[in-house]
Amino acid sequence: MDSAKKEMPKHIGIIMDGNGRWAKKRNLPRTYGHKEGVKRVIEIVKACYKLNIPYLSLYAFSTENWKRPEQEVSNLMFLLRSFIDQYLDELCENGVKLNIMGDVLALGDKTREMVMDAVKRTESNKDLVLNIGLNYGGQDEILRAAKALAQKVEAKEINVDAIDKEAFERELYTKNQPPLDLLIRPSGELRVSNFMLWQLAYAEFWFSDILWPDFTEETLKGAIDDYQCRNRRFGGV
Ligand code: FPP
Repeated sequence: MDSAKKEMPKHIGIIMDGNGRWAKKRNLPRTYGHKEGVKRVIEIVKACYKLNIPYLSLYAFSTENWKRPEQEVSNLMFLLRSFIDQYLDELCENGVKLNIMGDVLALGDKTREMVMDAVKRTESNKDLVLNIGLNYGGQDEILRAAKALAQKVEAKEINVDAIDKEAFERELYTKNQPPLDLLIRPSGELRVSNFMLWQLAYAEFWFSDILWPDFTEETLKGAIDDYQCRNRRFGGV
């Protein structure tokens, strides 16, 4: 198939799963799996800017991931800071705009400051929006949007009748972005795990047994090829 002629997804979401199992298979601590997972993050971001995909959303840390052992949580935060340290200049040079989905207030001061500084430094970039879910939950995002609109009604800033799909979407972390076209979940799990529940309404799903640390640019291209063979009807015929 000549995939160049087929429509590319504009917005890809990835639930980066399987780091722990990847490490376990090698008798390594889980943290090694996460470390290897970060290498795939930069590889896939680069693949997206090469393929001209304008929006990429990655699930790095969910509102439920706080239940993990404290050492694993702090290691994930450390890896995130290292990622910013190591790659922020490169992201800037390649026109990547970083956007955080999730409540950053609960992150430690050091992580929050680094993340917010990275968001600020990349805010005028235009080539690829990289959404990172950090302390993110899809239900939480929807509740926050509902509360924000309720507050606007209470303050008489808007009328209840003004609450439509567009008004609601302006309160989401993905304000002004297109919905998800393709949701990828490696590692063999067949669930959505509270990721971008609103934005995936008409997304195509792509599941694979590959563990995230083994996920390469070729895997991404394979998922895009499959996506391009789908017949998207958006409720029509
Ligand atoms: C799921 O694997 C993975 C996570 C909860 C963390 C994902 C985070 C990264 C890849 C690194 C940090 C991100 C950035 C953006 C630098 P799991 O631990 O649940 O694996 P398992 O299901 O095999 O145990």
